[in-house]
Formats: sequence, structure tokens, C-alpha cells
Amino acid sequence: MSISSDPTSLLSRLTVEEKAALCLGSDFWRTAPVSRLGIPAIMVSDGPHGLRRQPDEGDHVGIGGSVPATCFPTAAALGSSWDPELARRVGEALGRECREQGVAVLLGPGINIKRSPLCGRNFEYFSEDPLIAGVLGAAMVVGVQSHGVGTSVKHYAVNNQETDRLRVSADVDERTLREIYLPGFERVVTQGRPWTVMCAYNKINGTYASEHHWLLTEVLRDEWGFDGLVMSDWGAVHDRVAALAAGLDLEMPPNLGVSDAALVAAVRDGRLDESVLDTGVRRVLDLVARAQAGSGPADPVDVDGHHALAREVARECAVLLKNDDGVLPLQPAAGETVAVIGEFARTPRYQGAGSSQVNPTQVDVPLDELRAGVPDGVEVPFAAGFGVDDDGRDEELAGEAVELARGATSVVLFLGLPAADESEGFDRAHMDLPVAQTALVARIAEVNPRVVVVLANGSAVRLDGWQQHAAAVLECWLGGQAGGGAVADLLLGVASPSGRLAETLPLRLEDNTSYLNFPGEAGHVRYGEGVFVGYRGYDAVGREVSYPFGHGLSYTTFQYEDLDASVSGSAEAGDLAVDVTVAVTNTGQRRGKEVVQLYVGDPEAAVARPVRELKGFQKLDLAPGESGTATFRLDARDLSYWSPVHGGWQLEPGQFDLAVGASSRDLRLTMSIEVSAPPVRLPLDGMSTLEEWLADPEGGPALRAAVGTDSDGRPAGILGSEEMIKVIGNFPISSLAAFAGLGITHQMVESLVAGRESRS
Ligand code: BGC
Repeated sequence: MSISSDPTSLLSRLTVEEKAALCLGSDFWRTAPVSRLGIPAIMVSDGPHGLRRQPDEGDHVGIGGSVPATCFPTAAALGSSWDPELARRVGEALGRECREQGVAVLLGPGINIKRSPLCGRNFEYFSEDPLIAGVLGAAMVVGVQSHGVGTSVKHYAVNNQETDRLRVSADVDERTLREIYLPGFERVVTQGRPWTVMCAYNKINGTYASEHHWLLTEVLRDEWGFDGLVMSDWGAVHDRVAALAAGLDLEMPPNLGVSDAALVAAVRDGRLDESVLDTGVRRVLDLVARAQAGSGPADPVDVDGHHALAREVARECAVLLKNDDGVLPLQPAAGETVAVIGEFARTPRYQGAGSSQVNPTQVDVPLDELRAGVPDGVEVPFAAGFGVDDDGRDEELAGEAVELARGATSVVLFLGLPAADESEGFDRAHMDLPVAQTALVARIAEVNPRVVVVLANGSAVRLDGWQQHAAAVLECWLGGQAGGGAVADLLLGVASPSGRLAETLPLRLEDNTSYLNFPGEAGHVRYGEGVFVGYRGYDAVGREVSYPFGHGLSYTTFQYEDLDASVSGSAEAGDLAVDVTVAVTNTGQRRGKEVVQLYVGDPEAAVARPVRELKGFQKLDLAPGESGTATFRLDARDLSYWSPVHGGWQLEPGQFDLAVGASSRDLRLTMSIEVSAPPVRLPLDGMSTLEEWLADPEGGPALRAAVGTDSDGRPAGILGSEEMIKVIGNFPISSLAAFAGLGITHQMVESLVAGRESRS
């Protein structure tokens, strides 16, 4: 029976106890059923890059088993594709697998910002930039939900580290929240329309996300129009009554006998209005109804088709960091030898640990795939070189590898982070690959200059110190179960690499702007770098990096021409638009994809702003000689900053710089536009400074008129002395009124302020 026919009458037939029970799950993965009224339980499962449905006992750290499912590339990889269409197709495949397994809601995508390279879950997140996280996250949500399966966008919000994640307070100013940590969620909520949002474990400015009314209700629902359900992260609820009142509808997993009892008691003794409980229940019922609507017979999943998709996606995610003298693609001919070195070629790392850990349907082994892909007569011998978990050096393994490399035509060296280094639950302590691996690069390069390094890691690693020994470096991230096949395709030139860095690779960890404030102490982590996260931070201080945000090479080349922008509409009417176009031509010999990136900067801003920010991107697929046009439309918000003083976005009139290019530091074409808008005005009161009053187009003349002129007709009091204004212009005018002889009186301040108020 469907419960959607009359939810209002259903609600009226529930007892308070049943209502309380519905706002908690019934077990680790299920909502609570109410059998007497035909309300079924629905099942949720992790996410995000594959389905982790647990048939038996549940756990939220990926230790218990789960049914086989396709392990797609992790978000770190998918983010590097810069391709929302691909993310949508992955979402569709995930939706199909959920349907087949009877899973109503997939717990993902995770769209937290990569604030520090050390965050243990960076492999589960898309980018250091909110536009990429939001665009790809929204596309994935649309894909999953097109199959009648819900998503849970997580972890809302400001969950950017694992250290002390259940208690730490992320202390962030509102401008930084609005410009960096919330816009990804905002985009996914408004454009992807997820069925559910999962609140984070941590506190934000002292309040648990699960109890944060501003976050869960004022911003999420009132501002962004979210109409779905908010569930807790697993174990994030500490006070069920406060959480419900803040807007947390469903507690997972249930704290049975405690949370339900607390809700009933609070309703009975009047601390919680029953209508608040009803609101939560209504959202649970709506979710169950949505799930029921999507729970008809499902087509069987095409397991091989999903594996093929995983391979195609992984191919789009790998980032070619360097390629000296065109060493890639390898084009081995009969009689030549491609030496494959590194245990990861035989024992691939393709996903991270924790709640996202998938039990794959099959796993491609890079070594096997390379052997299958080379032409007849090409030898592909293998040497392990090191153990995947080795920290120290194994001289015998290393020596064997060097000998193998010596006689080879070229060497493919598979390096990566040990699995134990990156997982949900803890952060990394450094960004380095094990020394057993980095030392091997130099030794191999001594005997063979054609060394291609293939990297497997879910979060950024340091390249400085060893990469000069490699002719090419291909960053494959944690590429999912078909990553091995994708690597072979790219190395052998079946496809050209088209991934781009969705996070900067710094020279050193210390260069990252969060360095001095990560992971915090005594229960607090201060986001002292403000909006200067990732490339916004490296660019602000002109820091050299190993590879900039947006970087990635191809086997072909692209030329940018004819950057054009036109401004239409007006800020006042709310329809300001900037249409930008640029022509891009494939000038090389091979088919390839270019990610055209549009950055915007405001060279003269009233507040400290990043030098440039990504405001658009488009991936073009071009045959040799073919040209395409990338088009972008910016609106006022894209040019604005968040002003806590005004409690809103502020657009300053004047010049804005546009730049298009192949990375944040490979800007091929630039131009400026003029934008007209009313001047940004500060609210004025007695605590506003003299300078602020004088700068205001109405306040300045009003103050000058009130102070008047002296007998010679010059401005009276302090207004007659530029020097005085310079020195004490930062005093509030009510403080200046206390000083005799400056020409400003308390009465004057009162009437100026009253004049402002009457106009506002
Ligand atoms: C993780 C979530 C996950 C949940 C259920 C939590 O520990 O933070 O991302 O969805 O467990 O496994």
C-alpha cells in the first residue's frame, strides 16, 4: 500500500510514541516502520562512489562485509574529470544498483571542501573549490535520483578534517562560510534537489551541526528552499530534542530507548511543541512515500556494462602532470621491453578505507591490462621494487627493479600511498610517499631516462624532491575497480589524458594556508585563512607550487582565441549577466579534451578578495584541427563578495578581470569588463566612524551640512583639517562628539542617525 495518498490523515492517526519512533531509525540502515498503519521501513546505504549494502550486521567504518557492487572512481578522481555529464552517468549507474538492491537512499555525494591536503577523507571529496564540488555533486544527485532513489548530500557542513571530528568546533567567519564552505551545498540543494541532506558530526562556531538551527533551517530551508529530509551522520546526535527543534528530522542510527523517550517526554511536559515533532514526522513520511514510488521492479544491473563505465570514467579522471619529450604515450614496437615496476601494478589501490569502502564486482590489475594492451612481441616484465606497505627500504626488491629497468626500452613505475595512510577516521600526518618509493625513482632514472611514474593516492602527495627524475607523471588518484584498465588505455595512447587538478599540488605542506591552523587544539579549529583556501591562498601570497589548480596535460595541444564578453541587464533589476565566449582549437595530431576554465578577479575591492576565482568551466572534446566555443554566463553573485555587515552579497561597481586558460596559472587570454552597480553603502549609526560617514553619498553631505562652515566659509571643526581627519577619522562620530572643539555634538549625531533611520 502506498502511504502517499493521504499523509495528513496518516499523521493524525499516529500516537506521540509512534511519531517519536519515526524520527529515529529502527536499526543501523533502516527507518522505523509502523506496521499497524502500513508504514514500511526503508533502507539507506553508503555511498558515495559505490554501493555498500550490508546484508548482515551494520557498521559505519567499512569493516563488515557488503554485497558486491561496482566501485567507481572516488570523488578525488571524479572531481578531476571536471565533467558533470560523467558524474551524472556515474550517478545513474549507482541509482540502478541501489534499485536492484532495494536501497532507497544512497549516502552521498560528499561535497566538503579540501581545506588541507591532510584530511583523511579527501579521497571522498571533489575539490578545494566550491564550484567544482557543487556542479559535480549536483550532477551526481540528478543521476542517482533519476532512478527513483534518493541521495544524502554530506557532510553538512564544514567537516574538513577527521581529527576529533565528533566534537571539534570549526570556527569560521560568516563570509568564509558563504563563499567557500556553503556554496557547494547550496548548488547541490538548489540544482540537484536531493531527497536528503546529512548533517556533519562537528560543531560550527560552538554549536553541533545536528543542533544548528541557522544551518539546518534558516540557511538550508528558508534561504535555499530545501524541501527534503535532514538526517544525522551516524552518531552525530547528542540532544535529540534540541536537534529536532533545529531541523534534524531523522536520527541515524537510532539511540533506541533514549532519543525516542526524550522526544515523548519533551512533548508531554511542553518543552517541545507537538507541531515541531509533526514537521519531522511529515518529512520522514514524505521520504518513505518517495521511496515507495521508486521501488517497483528494477531491471537487472548490467555488471559488465558498469565495469566498462567505471573504466571510461577513470580514463577521464587521470591527470597528466608532466610529459617531457613526449615520452607518453608509450608506443612500444615488437622486440621492445616495457618494464613495469612497483607493487601497485600488481596489487592496485583503487579506493579508500572507511564507510565508503565497496566490495567490488571485479578489479582490473594494471600489469595484466598493460600486457593485454601492448602489440605482439613487446615484453612487459615486472619487478615489485617495494612492498605496498613498506616504509623502510627492501634492498633486494629495489635492486631487482633497477636491474629490470636497466635493459628496458621504457619503465612504468607504479607508486602510491600505503592503504593505511588514508582513511575515514584520521588525518594524515604528512604528504610524503614512503621513502622506499621515492628513493627508487632516482635509482631507476640513473639506469633508464624513460621513467613514467603512475600515482595511486586519494589525496595530494608531495612531488618535490623526486619528480625531476621522472620523464612523465600520471596522477590516477584512487580510480575505482577499473582503474587498471584505464591506466593501460592512457599509457598506450588508446585515449588522451583529460583530467585536470581539482586541488593544487603544493611544493610543501607548509605552503598550504591552513597549515598553522590544522587540525586545531582543545576542541577548536580556527579557519584563520578565511576565504584563502587552496589556489585562492597560494595565489594571494604568490607561492610557487608543484602543479597549480586546473593543471593537466594532454597528448595534443590547444590554442585559445577570441575571448569576448558582453554585459547586459542591470544589478538594480537583478538581471545582470556577463556572457563570455572563447574559441579553442585542437592544434595537435590527436583527438583530445580541453577543460576551458574561466576565472574572475576584482582588482579594486573594498574587502580582501582572492586574486582570481573559478567561475565557470567547460570540457570540450575536439578532433585534430577542430575548433569549439566555450560559453559561460556569469551573474551578479559570481562577481560579489559576502558582506556580514549587510548580511548579503555585495556587488561593487567598476572593473572586473576575466581570464580564460588551461589552469589557474596558465591563463591564455585576459580582458576586463566594467560593471555598473549602485555603490556599496555601509549602514550608518553613531558607532560608524567619521571616515565612514564622509564616504557615504548621503551621510557625507548630511554631516558636512550639520557641522557647517566657519566665518571664512571653510568647513568648520575637524572637517576643516585633512590632517585631523586622517589621524582620528577612524573614531566613531559619537566618540568624537565627546571631544570639545571638533564641531560635532551629541545632538547632531542623534539627529543625523535619526535622519538615516527615517530613510531606511
Ligand atoms: C560517515 C558517513 C557515513 C555513515 C554511515 C559515518 O561515519 O561519516 O559518511 O555515511 O558513517 O556509514
